[in-house]
Amino acid sequence: MSLFNVYPLNPIAITKAEGSRVWDDKGQAYLDMYGGHAVISIGHTHPHWVKRIEDQLHAIAFYSNSVIMPIQDELATALNEISGKKDYQLFLCNSGAEANENALKLASFHTGRKKVVAFKKAFHGRTSLAVAATDNPSIVAPVNETNNIIFLPFNDLAALQSCFTEQGNEIAAVIIEGIQGVAGIHEASVAFLQAIRKVCDDFGAVYIADSVQCGYGRSGQFFAHDHAGVNADIYSMAKGMGNGFPIGGILIAPHIQAKFGMLGTTFGGNPMACAAALAVIEVMQKENLIKASEEKGNYLIHALKNTSGVKTVRGRGLMIGFEMEEGLEEVRKVLLNDLKIFTGEAKLNVIRLLPSLAISMDDIKLFLTGLNKAIQQMKQKAT
Ligand SMILES: Cc1ncc(COP(=O)(O)O)c(C=O)c1O
Repeated sequence: MSLFNVYPLNPIAITKAEGSRVWDDKGQAYLDMYGGHAVISIGHTHPHWVKRIEDQLHAIAFYSNSVIMPIQDELATALNEISGKKDYQLFLCNSGAEANENALKLASFHTGRKKVVAFKKAFHGRTSLAVAATDNPSIVAPVNETNNIIFLPFNDLAALQSCFTEQGNEIAAVIIEGIQGVAGIHEASVAFLQAIRKVCDDFGAVYIADSVQCGYGRSGQFFAHDHAGVNADIYSMAKGMGNGFPIGGILIAPHIQAKFGMLGTTFGGNPMACAAALAVIEVMQKENLIKASEEKGNYLIHALKNTSGVKTVRGRGLMIGFEMEEGLEEVRKVLLNDLKIFTGEAKLNVIRLLPSLAISMDDIKLFLTGLNKAIQQMKQKAT
């Protein structure tokens, strides 16, 4: 049987990983500036994370959500503390799409309304409502098409205001990434996030902060949306939450009330995933990784801005996108094939950096040296 062929693959088989390194099946090491698509938050196979999961495996791997699982409460408390969202409630699931799906559904239950405001170029996942709120018709199946999503231009205050003036009483939620990832690293402005908070308050809508990629400390704050100084009603999380162990979740403001049966899942909140997520938070606290992300990100952004051949640099903390000057668009391929450095990509020739928050300064410098080498190599070829 063959695999269903939906991913354009790099012809590299990764079989081992540690910290910010991965190795292929031939023993070749690669520097991982991509973090397996923003998933690796505390470093590949971190010893504390491995031990926590191992210990949990020996105790109990799974039971259904029909019984009390103390480790879920432990995770909720740890999340309240690290996120600063003290009295928020936690619902656990398995992925980013599921987190957004549950967030949108909950907003609709809470308000009794159907309309959702999402933004141009947004990516929220591939489940039914999440994909409908994703601005990419090529991944929206006919069955997912709905008139309930209103796409507005990103960071456009006037468009937001006039949409709410016209149909605010029908809008259940506004969903927004703090930093758009797939779109090519575009940050929501402070004024825009504050305006979203205000229109949601004025019209009784729910502000959903999609923190799947930009959250979990990557931006230098626990949630990238926190840079605006206003709270969302629901934060969706996944990627960095388990450092590679599948887990997602939503943090829900106290005014949104639960009702039995409203949301549910078989695997969400299983003890293995909770153990992995607790290990991530413990390491983030012990190694001060949120602050580290801010500092290392500032260093990297500054260095990239001063690299000849780099046209534009965007982002915050360790969520960075940069574009190369004309003729250097293929630099990402040179980095991977010749210099053995993984990076990510995003729309319109953007190279995305999403390394582990625990990446060392030596590895950051190694990346910058590699980038300069790749640029020189390409410039020489062109002459
Ligand atoms: C902002 C954002 N939301 C949601 C998702 C979907 O997450 P998942 O692939 O875990 O379903 C992604 C994935 O890239 C994302 O970047």
